[in-house]
Amino acid sequence: MNRIFSGIQPTGNLHLGNYLGAIRNWIDLQNEFECIFCIVDLHALTQPQDPAELRGSTREVTAAYIAAGIDPERCTIFNQSMVSAHTELAWLLSCLTPIGWLNRMTQFKEKAGKHREMAGLGLYAYPVLMAADILLYKATHVPVGEDQKQHIELARDIAGAFNRRYERDFFPLPEPQIFGTATRVMSLRDGTKKMSKSDSSDYSRINLTDSGEMIALKIRRAKTDPEPLPSTIADLEHRPEADNLIGIYAALCGLSREDALGKFAGRNFSAFKEALSEAAVEVLGRIGDHMRRLMAEPGYIDGVLRCGAERARAIAEPVLREAQQISGLLRP
Ligand code: AMP
Ligand code: TRP
Repeated sequence: MNRIFSGIQPTGNLHLGNYLGAIRNWIDLQNEFECIFCIVDLHALTQPQDPAELRGSTREVTAAYIAAGIDPERCTIFNQSMVSAHTELAWLLSCLTPIGWLNRMTQFKEKAGKHREMAGLGLYAYPVLMAADILLYKATHVPVGEDQKQHIELARDIAGAFNRRYERDFFPLPEPQIFGTATRVMSLRDGTKKMSKSDSSDYSRINLTDSGEMIALKIRRAKTDPEPLPSTIADLEHRPEADNLIGIYAALCGLSREDALGKFAGRNFSAFKEALSEAAVEVLGRIGDHMRRLMAEPGYIDGVLRCGAERARAIAEPVLREAQQISGLLRP
C-alpha cells in the first residue's frame, strides 16, 4: 500500500517555491493515496525562532495547506511536536547513522556557513529526524522540491541500515517524488539562488500572502536580461532568470516549458511579465484570501491540528513500539 508523507518548516513566509515545488503537487495525491502532511516545528528549532512567531507560523502553514486545497477530512494534517514518537525514533536511527553520511549533506553546509563549529547539533542531526518523520509512518512516497532529494536518499539509506542491522524488512525504502515544471524555483533577484524563506531581500520571493499589487510589483522588478525570449528551451541555458520565469509561468498555467516559451518566443520581457503577473495573481490571490480567512479562526486551525495529531499517533506509536522492541529495548 502506498502512503504519502511530506512536511514544511514553519519558519518565515511561505513562498511560491513552497507552493509550486511542494504543496500544489500534494493536492492530486490525496484523491488516490493515504496522505499525511506535517508542519515540522521541531525542524524549525534548528535555527533560532521567536516563540510567538513560531506558533503563528505553525498555524499559517496549516492554513496554507487547507487554502491550497488539502482536505483535512481526507488527509492527516498535524504539527510534528504533537507526536513525540518522531524524536524517539530519531534517537534509535541516529545510533545507526554514520557521521560520514551526515557530512555529505549539502543543506547543512549551506545553512551552517563559515561558522560550522558554532552550528547547533540539531541542525547537523536534522536529516535523521527527517528520516524518522518518514519512516515512522512507513511512508512509501515523499513529494518534495528538488532540494530535499538528498535528505530522502539518506532516509532510504537509514531505513536500509535498520533493516540490515536487525535482519528484517521492517521499514520500506521511501521514494522521493519530485514533479511538476517548477521543482526548483529560483530567486527573482538572482537566478542562480534558490527562492527561500530566509533570503533577506523581500523582492527575491513571492509570498503566498502577498497582495495582488505586491505580486505584480515583484514580477515587474524581477531580474531579466536584455535579449528577447528565444524560441527553444535549449537557448535558455545560460539565461537563469529567464529560464526561471518561464518555469514559473508554465507551472502556474499547467503548461509544459516548451509551450509556455512558445507563447512568448521573440517577444520582450514586458509583455511576458504582464502575463506572468496575471497568472500569479489569479492563482495566489485565491489562496492568500482563503489563508487570511482561516487565520482569523485560530480555534478551527487548532482543532484540525489536534485531530490530525490523534490520527498520526494511531499510526506512529505502534511502529515506534515495534522498532523499540526490535532494537532490544525492554518494555516491561
Ligand atoms: P522548506 O521551505 O525548506 O520547509 O521547504 C518545504 C518544501 O518546499 C520542500 O518540499 C522543499 O523542497 C520545497 N521548496 C522549498 N523551496 C523551494 C524552491 N525554491 N523551489 C521548489 N521547491 C521548494
Ligand atoms: N526538510 C524539509 C525541508 O526543509 C522538511 C521536512 C522535514 C520534510 N521532515 C520531512 C519533508 C519529511 C518531507 C518529509 O523542506
